[in-house]
Amino acid sequence: MPEREPIAVIGTGYVGLVTAAGFAELGSEVWCIDIDEDKIAMLRRGEVPIYEPGLDEVLARHRGRLHFSTDLGEALDHARLLFVAVGTPPTPSGDADLGAVHAVVAAMPASDHHALVMKSTVPVGTGNAIKRVFREQGKDQFRYVSCPEFLKEGTALDDFLRPDRVVIGDEGDWAGDAVDELYAPLGAPIVRTDIPSAEMVKLAANAFLATKISFINEIANVCEVTGADVVEVARGIGLDDRIGPKFLQAGIGFGGSCFPKDVSALKQLAGNSGYHFQLLAAVLEVNELQKRRVVGKLQQHLGNLVGKRIALLGLAFKPDTDDMREASSLVLSARLQAEGAQVVAFDPIAEAEARKRVTGVEFARSALDCVRDADALVLVTEWREFKELEWRDVAEAMAGTLVVDGRNALDAEAIQSAGLRYEGIGRTPRVPLVA
Ligand SMILES: NC(=O)c1ccc[n+]([C@@H]2O[C@H](COP(=O)([O-])OP(=O)(O)OC[C@H]3O[C@@H](n4cnc5c(N)ncnc54)[C@H](O)[C@@H]3O)[C@@H](O)[C@H]2O)c1
Repeated sequence: MPEREPIAVIGTGYVGLVTAAGFAELGSEVWCIDIDEDKIAMLRRGEVPIYEPGLDEVLARHRGRLHFSTDLGEALDHARLLFVAVGTPPTPSGDADLGAVHAVVAAMPASDHHALVMKSTVPVGTGNAIKRVFREQGKDQFRYVSCPEFLKEGTALDDFLRPDRVVIGDEGDWAGDAVDELYAPLGAPIVRTDIPSAEMVKLAANAFLATKISFINEIANVCEVTGADVVEVARGIGLDDRIGPKFLQAGIGFGGSCFPKDVSALKQLAGNSGYHFQLLAAVLEVNELQKRRVVGKLQQHLGNLVGKRIALLGLAFKPDTDDMREASSLVLSARLQAEGAQVVAFDPIAEAEARKRVTGVEFARSALDCVRDADALVLVTEWREFKELEWRDVAEAMAGTLVVDGRNALDAEAIQSAGLRYEGIGRTPRVPLVA
């Protein structure tokens, strides 16, 4: 294998660790830097601080190529390309908080042979603003490349190794070419463009996907009042290749560390420039209402929820991750408690993260333990083990009969055959209720 360019990754969260593992898999030596000493200590011991399928094996396989440190100097000594993967969480105004990005920028020395490669999702204009800062500080030779990340938690390694495309925004200098060369072995289309356009590709992609989800959720809500089944409707429209079948699963709304914050960051970015992005305002509003509709469904069947025991199956924002950021379960569990319900929850992986973010919820040890004596259960996260539940056992364990399938992921017929009442999102059950 020809010698690969060594790189550094700053920020060892979901994106940073996957980027490090992916480039190590392709043969690069990788210096991983984080300010979180505990995280670095764990990684040095061979422990992985996040849950991402397959990540522990790849990191273990390439231990010899991966170096973990809190010392940025080590990264600068060994690598020209510094991939930045620090968090850009939302501020109360909906803007992106660039505090961590600016801390990294401020720590850069004057250098004519280094480049920042921005993987963090940042507002359009950030790259040019950073270049301005570099100029003001006499660091004009420090290069900057925008290389937004499109991985999905749960399938992140596969997404890194088989991307639909790689987007590289640069100013036509050595750094853009070096990043291009690093990704070339993946054989994916590489979109070379200017920095602001690369930044916008990322925000626009997430905004479009979120729009698709809110769109199908609104169709689902209309299906409920008109007698159509949104699963059939989604199949029917998804086969149109101008539309495509993905992101047409109606449910209780999107969450996670990216969609909510990136959509509001784009809406806010437009607003700050004097443009009111009406469509995105609606996308976010629909999403908020969608999380709350489940409470309405429970009330419709159970009446007043005071003292009712509601079981939540799944807490993570989606399956195969322990990420609880902006998870729909957070809003749902808080709303249910506000209505006086007793909330019991089970998640196969995300419990530790959930315990940091939810209060007043009882944690069960298994799915069956969770539904025991419950008046209703709500599927919040479509983990595979919930789809494979033995519904007769569930029916026996529950006090009530109501199953709200918040992700339209369960087998409605099997649930009804077990004597339970099935309520999906935008679906009219076709099988008559078993008495
Ligand atoms: N998680 C995703 O699915 C995903 C996908 C695409 C893009 N992104 C974007 O990638 C970026 C990172 O997201 P994430 O989910 O990996 O975040 P994360 O919170 O999991 O990780 C961020 C890491 O950066 C570290 N950090 C903060 N300040 C630092 C500094 N000054 N120096 C070194 N390390 C520092 C933190 O300690 C943390 O370990 C965000 O901008 C996000 O929007 C995330």
